[in-house]
Amino acid sequence: MLNPRYLVHTYPDLTALNQAAATYWVEQATQAIAQRAAFHVALTGGSTPQPLYRLLATPEVANKLDWNCVHIYIGDERYVPHDHPDSNYGMVKACMLDQIAIPPENLHPIPTQYEQAHDAAADYAEVLSSIASKTEQVPELDLIMLGMGEDGHTASLFPGTDILQVTDKTVAAVYVEKLASWRVSMTYPTLNRAKQVMVLVSGEGKADILAHILQKDSETLYPIQSVSPAGEMHWFLDQAAAGKLDQSSS
Ligand code: 6PG
Repeated sequence: MLNPRYLVHTYPDLTALNQAAATYWVEQATQAIAQRAAFHVALTGGSTPQPLYRLLATPEVANKLDWNCVHIYIGDERYVPHDHPDSNYGMVKACMLDQIAIPPENLHPIPTQYEQAHDAAADYAEVLSSIASKTEQVPELDLIMLGMGEDGHTASLFPGTDILQVTDKTVAAVYVEKLASWRVSMTYPTLNRAKQVMVLVSGEGKADILAHILQKDSETLYPIQSVSPAGEMHWFLDQAAAGKLDQSSS
């Protein structure tokens, strides 16, 4: 049985997944703009969301939104310059941001010009503090997009890394041994304060771990299982990723 705290949506392929994800994204943006005149969204890196970003930038979809009210953040970043092929912000910019009429001051990339990734994390925490409540001091994003790796990582919260224990910072730097590289990532306090979280997962390589993670009684073993937002957590899956889920009693 699937864990009832998750809202799981399965689509035949990556194209259908991204179309549904785009509809959901636009709905969330429209609602936030109608209620608060602003939509604060954190985008994810990885390959799965790239068709979604391209779709959001098409005139048919982009014209549905007032981009003056949309604020773009990045959930995690590989610690390389934005014009490096590995940069998440560089990818998002090429797929989407360069194609839409969004004011530059609404773009909030994770800085990567510091010598130390820790300084970049502290700088980004300061940026995010502008959308934090005065009392809690944790940023409250309207929507956080996430992906999931085959090892159960999400954002740059990798198994066995120190960042999993961070509770006093909203953004932190982490050295990922198996990638031999530094990353900067939103931490659990930020992910768990989100109004909505959407996770995009595709491909049969993730079917086994996904079946484990989404089941009702699975223990918290993988980093993504500790994401428990204030609002809903929607999983957008393609059939290949969902192939091993027991959906009979979901
Ligand atoms: C990154 C991420 C990471 C990603 C997953 C899934 O910087 O790589 O933000 O958490 O979302 O690794 O990536 P794919 O979509 O490529 O499988």
